[in-house]
Amino acid sequence: MLLLTIHGQLMAMLLRLVNAKKTIEIGVFTGYSLLLTALTIPEDGQITAIDVNRETYEIGLPIIKKAGVDHKINFIESEALSVLDQLLKYSENEGSFDYAFVDADKDNYCNYHERLMKLLKVGGIAVYDNTLWGGTVAVPEEQVPDHFRGSSRQAILDLNRSLADDPRVQLSHVALGDGITICRRIF
Ligand SMILES: *[C@@H]1O[C@H](CO)[C@@H](O)[C@H](O)[C@H]1NC(C)=O
Repeated sequence: MLLLTIHGQLMAMLLRLVNAKKTIEIGVFTGYSLLLTALTIPEDGQITAIDVNRETYEIGLPIIKKAGVDHKINFIESEALSVLDQLLKYSENEGSFDYAFVDADKDNYCNYHERLMKLLKVGGIAVYDNTLWGGTVAVPEEQVPDHFRGSSRQAILDLNRSLADDPRVQLSHVALGDGITICRRIF
């Protein structure tokens, strides 16, 4: 039994609530959430897992194999936008995913969101990680420490703003860890 962090408990709960079977993960790193997802979805579930770096994925892979869930994972070493666009070339992928977890380059969060709104089912969920950016999204620009400034913080602010105006989603911004934004596609 995987010992879940509070973060992980919430993810496992969301996966179960939407009966997630077909999921997508943008940004894998060493595969903590990937393992969690693979353990939570059913035996015939499928995860499309995308990361620019296979080496970090391979650090966690022995544990995923030991857990006997590696057959649920299709790992693609690539930046994600082109993969999402490729998926969208096949109409059967549209509206076919139950769940998406996004924890990759923040500069593309809004671009990922546009693709995910087509790939997810109505009722499906997209989860964006790090959406409080160390709490600095709620701090005036001039008080933000240098290492939190820059395009990533701006991209998180932009995502928050555009999600707030997005009629396609029901939103919940959870102040857990570094902030998690949960979006349920409503049409
Ligand atoms: C997100 O955007 C909404 C709507 O503009 C705003 O009320 C809220 O304070 C923003 N939250 C963060 C963390 O930036």
